[in-house]
Amino acid sequence: MHRDFPAGFLWGAATSAHQVEGGNVNNDWWDFEHAPASAARASSGDGIDHFHHYAEDFALLRQLGHNAHRLSLEWSRIEPAPGEFSRAAVAHYRRVLTALAATGMTAFVTLHHFTLPRWFAARGGWLSPDAVHLFARYCRHVATELGELMPLVCTINEPQMVALHGYLEGYHPPGITNPVLWKRVGRILLDAHHAAVAAVRGASPTSQAGLAVQLPLLAPIRDDPACDAFHRSMRHEIVDLYLDGLTGPDRGDWLGVQYYRKQWVDPASPTLFAEPPAGSRLTQMGWAVYPDGLRQMLHRAEATGMPLYVTENGIATEDDDERLDYLHTHLEATAQAIKEGVDVRGYLHWSAFDNFEWSEGYRPKFGLIGVDEHFNRVAKPSAHVFARIARTGRLDA
Ligand code: NOJ
Repeated sequence: MHRDFPAGFLWGAATSAHQVEGGNVNNDWWDFEHAPASAARASSGDGIDHFHHYAEDFALLRQLGHNAHRLSLEWSRIEPAPGEFSRAAVAHYRRVLTALAATGMTAFVTLHHFTLPRWFAARGGWLSPDAVHLFARYCRHVATELGELMPLVCTINEPQMVALHGYLEGYHPPGITNPVLWKRVGRILLDAHHAAVAAVRGASPTSQAGLAVQLPLLAPIRDDPACDAFHRSMRHEIVDLYLDGLTGPDRGDWLGVQYYRKQWVDPASPTLFAEPPAGSRLTQMGWAVYPDGLRQMLHRAEATGMPLYVTENGIATEDDDERLDYLHTHLEATAQAIKEGVDVRGYLHWSAFDNFEWSEGYRPKFGLIGVDEHFNRVAKPSAHVFARIARTGRLDA
């Protein structure tokens, strides 16, 4: 029988703690959301109350054909004060991960997905001299306590975006706009990844540790030498530094590729990026849809020599037909990369549910599943199409 994806391919969707749990009141994001004149337009509030609905959420995803699921642990719950680990929070995540394992879905567990405990942010966040050590200590604790429930551990989600959004563009905490610091933070995050890999390996030999990087397809906005040189330097900061930085003995066991869009860079723009050219197909986020970029970036990631998973890919839209088209064309791009020899082992859509999209609040709709005001979950038609593809490994299912 013809298949577009190999047997054993992992199919699922991703979330992160702060975006779905609700009540994450002890981290830097909560403070950022509630600061006067914040770049964040809303409070994360109750999220989609996944904190209490996790069992029903996993059952629904399993029913929708998923055989894998990606979620994150909230550091500020697990370590609410420096060195003080909450047994109740660890017990909660033990129940969560046990429920996930009971469905038969393979768990991808992210240890750091954008949020920092308030105390860690207060001592300088990633710029504090002991940041890497403190992060590794948390990772070691989690791997010791929960390791057997974490077959795939993602140390850090999108280090480049933590650096870029938080330290250059300033619309994520700590809200800094500094052309030197964002580069420094990116390098610190790579160190933190390596330290986390060592911590996880030491405490949980059965876990496979990896990093999830966002790999936009970058292009120069104009065809001139200055713009070309700038494009190369931006590609170095956002893509090459991370992929080339993953070599060596503590490189990790796998790489997560997160792809959303094509982005144009412009040395003349204060944000370093240009608006997409006229005629680009844009999502609710204003992002340019460009499916072949996923195929191209999977090829680029292949140079690391590591097995790849697409750990995020998705579209913010109110129009589910648009989501279906995005899903289909990006899965085609993934299937094509596999056909061309790239070792891609799974695809996790962003996102399982409509959720809190950081500074944009709840307006962008990324979910395969909607959530109403009573926290009822409603699977969209795209979720059913995804289920058929996941069950058969065929795009025409
Ligand atoms: C990347 C991030 O990991 C995730 O948290 C975010 O919601 C999506 N991209 C969409 O912006």
